[in-house]
Amino acid sequence: ATAGTNISELMRQVLAPREWDILRRAGETAARLGCRVFAAGGVVRDILLQAGNLDIDLVVEGDGIALAGALAGAYGAQVRAHRRFGTAEVLFPDGFKVDVATARVEFYEYPAALPRVESSCLRHDLYRRDFTINAMAVDLNGENFGDLIDFFGGRQDLQQGLIRVLYNLSFIEDPIRLLRAVRFEQRYGFKIEPQTLKLMEEAVRREVLTRVSTERLWEELKHILLEKEAGRMLERLHQLGMWPFVFPGVTYWEVQPVLHDLGAAMQALDEWGFATGHDSWLCYFIAVLHWSSPETARALCERYHLSKRQAGKVVSSLSSWQQVLSLLSRRGEVRNSELARGLLLLPPEAYPLILTLLDEEWLKERFRQLLLLLKESRPSVDGNFIRSLGYRPGPVFRRALDAVWRARLDGLVKNSEEEKAFVKEFLSRHYGEGPHD
Ligand code: CTP
Repeated sequence: ATAGTNISELMRQVLAPREWDILRRAGETAARLGCRVFAAGGVVRDILLQAGNLDIDLVVEGDGIALAGALAGAYGAQVRAHRRFGTAEVLFPDGFKVDVATARVEFYEYPAALPRVESSCLRHDLYRRDFTINAMAVDLNGENFGDLIDFFGGRQDLQQGLIRVLYNLSFIEDPIRLLRAVRFEQRYGFKIEPQTLKLMEEAVRREVLTRVSTERLWEELKHILLEKEAGRMLERLHQLGMWPFVFPGVTYWEVQPVLHDLGAAMQALDEWGFATGHDSWLCYFIAVLHWSSPETARALCERYHLSKRQAGKVVSSLSSWQQVLSLLSRRGEVRNSELARGLLLLPPEAYPLILTLLDEEWLKERFRQLLLLLKESRPSVDGNFIRSLGYRPGPVFRRALDAVWRARLDGLVKNSEEEKAFVKEFLSRHYGEGPHD
């Protein structure tokens, strides 16, 4: 361990006031309960990297569930305890979460004559973790508050930018770590340490990924697809031979150029005011599958338990992107309503794919104009207006609203007065004079 490194100043700078307060209070609570508590794992890594947006994980030498309960009491938060594992979550009203784990001590391992090595259970807890950079802790107890606990050289690896496992069987014991190695490597622009890389290649050769449940695989894969560098991560999965385990049946080379540019496209859309936000994973999923057969796509949606609605978006993207692309690329006059109708075949999660595939500036600009137009020209009249005219809800509503939207897109109506007049005219044309009741 690096003796004497105290990072409490850094913690105060990096942590949000509430996070800081939680860590202080965890230490005080532990003192009251007669146990010891540490912040461990990703939170320590992120403090040292001075990165924001942290998840707090606490490890308790003692009764973790009791500490979680006391901490929750202090904040008016809820506790969800998993007694069998000695773990608990402290759930704050606004969704913030603190995970608490118990570092178990196997007392029987220690002959009574020998004094127990201090922190041995914390050490054991940290040793079981994935990479050195994720296996550090911070002491939260009393005067030791802020002391960095680094048994395995995590800080040095962080400084040198290295992803390194703690023991040779790490990937065999938990194959998900193969994906995690790639995720951290690309997220931070690090390198996988040579021996670790060898172990990874060996594990992939032994096909250990076939042994993990698709639920766990998806959990990690979705993490990847939500990362800013998702494209590079997928490329890396391919380089390391993992692609067929995560996207069986999908030919990497067919989608590689698109994956490479998708992040930039998403950023451009974001700048235009069309953020993909928390559905960015689906943007990648659609891009990965866009050349696949409907059968392959459906199988992958099922494999990863996408909801019906999400799978529907994948399928409609697959069947329409080419049509939309050729519509957008058509030279000469194309009516806005026609372009819009094409675009509306697609879910917004397919927009990054479309933007990536439009290879000329004027096409990208046309796409942008169209998106803006679609957003701005949503008519102000709605079903309520039609109802106020005395019509009963039915298919006529949809058709009238579609018609007025198209009219707006093509500039035939320009304001809500004209919209209303248009709808009235449309209805009387289709249903005769006046509403029938
Ligand atoms: N961990 C592990 N093996 C795994 C998953 C997690 O050893 N397969 C350990 C790591 O020490 C990690 C901690 O559990 O730091 C918490 O995991 P998680 O919350 O998934 O990751 P973070 O490291 O917090 O990373 P992220 O920033 O992606 O949340």
